[in-house]
This record gives sequence, structure tokens and C-alpha cells, in this order.
Amino acid sequence: MTPLPDTAPDITVTTLLADTSQRTLADDVLAGLSASPKTLPPKHFYDSVGAELFDQICDLPEYYPTRAEREILVTQSAQIAQLTGATELVELGAGSADKTRVLLTALSEAGTLDTYVPMDVAEQQLRQVCEAIADEYPGLKVHGVAGDFLRHMDAVPASEGPRIVALLGGTVGNFIGADRADLLAGISAALRPTDYLLLGTDLVKDRAPLEAAYDDSQGVTAAFNRNVLQVINRELDADFDLNSFEHIALYNEQEEQIEMRLRSTLAQEVTIKNLSALRVVFEAGEEILTEVSAKFTPERLEQDLAGAGLELAWFETDSAGQFALSLSHPQLSP
Ligand SMILES: C[S@@+](CC[C@H](N)C(=O)[O-])C[C@H]1O[C@@H](n2cnc3c(N)ncnc32)[C@H](O)[C@@H]1O
Repeated sequence: MTPLPDTAPDITVTTLLADTSQRTLADDVLAGLSASPKTLPPKHFYDSVGAELFDQICDLPEYYPTRAEREILVTQSAQIAQLTGATELVELGAGSADKTRVLLTALSEAGTLDTYVPMDVAEQQLRQVCEAIADEYPGLKVHGVAGDFLRHMDAVPASEGPRIVALLGGTVGNFIGADRADLLAGISAALRPTDYLLLGTDLVKDRAPLEAAYDDSQGVTAAFNRNVLQVINRELDADFDLNSFEHIALYNEQEEQIEMRLRSTLAQEVTIKNLSALRVVFEAGEEILTEVSAKFTPERLEQDLAGAGLELAWFETDSAGQFALSLSHPQLSP
């Protein structure tokens, strides 16, 4: 771990990715593309191009989650500040931290906020966010962590006062089964009795708005999906032809999740030089599962939280009931 003091005096960025991110990509690509069916974990979408494409997705007319979550933050942030009394906001998968400003402002106005700790694998964007937020909130300590929230929770600096650990944007839904349980358990382990998890979850709804949100008319989500192949081409010297993979986004009603795939439009073979020239064979129509986005009911949310030793303390949706924000805290031992 190398803490790198940044230019402005109240910004620190700790970077934990340098030695390991390429290795992680290689391991994930080898495991995922050798599996049947083929899969890739979603965190590799977010190089600087992917992070920029995700920001464009957030502004698309079809992509309701960002607007809905922002609406809840606008109407409820003062309440969140009052309920938590937080002196510190830790944000996992902060991205552009656009909506986060609403909460930072409410916490500042409540007079409690001291420190903001954004964590993300998208290091370049994280550094820009740290600088912008330190500028916008004079006196706020900003400590960025360029790291993986599945592996580096212990790099979040200790805090004295009550803390909110936020995971917004429905990111928790990108993890399924044991991965989600591990993520929530890791967060839960980092919470003290006075801390809260602030979680953004997309809610179960009809198929049409869900599929439109993940397959927009301008093709931005398709470009975001295909960009993961570009990341593999660049980082692992592979020869994926992006034009021969079609973007697919379908709602799996039984599992209550959107499933995003890349479908090979022809029979083809791809070589990944930096994986000992691994040859990956695709049949025509064969798919790679690239992202799952689980949709929640309040019951499913409570169940998942309870599995991680967390208790729901507060739950609100936007006015159209599309998206939810919740606060939960560690269950008190009996
Ligand atoms: C769906 S976006 C949400 C961004 C932002 N929180 C929002 O609400 O718009 C997911 C974010 O999590 C980051 N991310 C994904 N997997 C991660 C991981 N394992 N560790 C740290 N950050 C991760 C991505 O780089 C991206 O910025």
C-alpha cells in the first residue's frame, strides 16, 4: 500500500491497484472465458472509456435509476444526515460521485461532515473526483482509495465519529449469490455500532422499462458492454473483433435480474497473447454473460442484509416507486 500525497493539502489518494489489477484481469478472463457458459466480471468495464460511457448512460432518457436515486437523495438527504449524524462518508464504487454531492451538501449543512472517502477501481476518474470535491467543499478532508471494494475494505482509514458507508447506483445488484453475500459481509464487518450502510437498490418492475434502460436507442449501453472486449484487447493483447459481438440485455423474470451478454454473431476464434496465446473458440450465437443487475423487493433486500448481520433501519423510494435507498446498521448481539 502506497499512500500518495496529492497536490492539494487536504487530499490523499491511496492506490492499491498498480501491482494487482492486470493480474486480476488475466485471472478473471482465463477463468471466465474457459467456463461454460462464458462469463466476465463487471468491474473490468470501468477503464477510463468505460467510466465515461457509464456517465453517459446515467444521462440517457431510458436510464431511470440515476434520476430516481437522485430524487430520493434530494428529498431525503437532510433526514439521512439527521438519522446518522455522520462525520464521514465512505463511498464504495463512487464513479463520478455526481449524486453524492447532494448528500455531502446535506451532511455539511448539518455541521457534522469532516471526511469523504471515495473508493473505486477507476483510478483516473477517482483522482478527478477527489480534486473536484475538495474544491467544492473547502475544509473537507478527502481520502480517495483506488482499490477493489471486495478486497481492500481494510484500506479505508479508521474514523472517530459515526460513518456512512454508501454503495449507490444499484451496484450491489451487479453481484449475485455468494459474491453479494461476501460483499455485504465485508461491508458489515467494517461497520461499528454507530455506522450505517446507505444502499441504493433498483426495484422489481415490468420488463419493458428494465430492458429499455439496459438497451438504449442510442447504443451507448451497447458500446459500454463491448468496451470490456477492448479492455482485454489492450491489456492482454487479444484480438477480439468488437463488431462481431452483439449487445443483448434481457430481464430474467424468475431470477428478477437484468442479464447483459455479448453474443458472437459468427463462429470464430480469438487469441489472447498475454494468456499464453490462449485460443477462445466461439460458436455462432454463443454468448458471454458480462453483467447481471439484480432487482430487489423490500423482502429480498431485508433477507440479504440479515444474511450479512445487518438490520434495516430506514427505507425510502422515489415518487414512482422505481428505486430505493435504505439505511441499515449492524444487528445488536442478543
Ligand atoms: C454502476 S457504477 C455506479 C457509479 C456511481 N456510484 C453511481 O451511482 O452512479 C459502479 C461503480 O463501481 C465501480 N466498481 C465496480 N466494481 C468495483 C470493485 N470491485 N471495487 C471498486 N469499485 C468498483 C465502477 O468503477 C463504477 O464506478
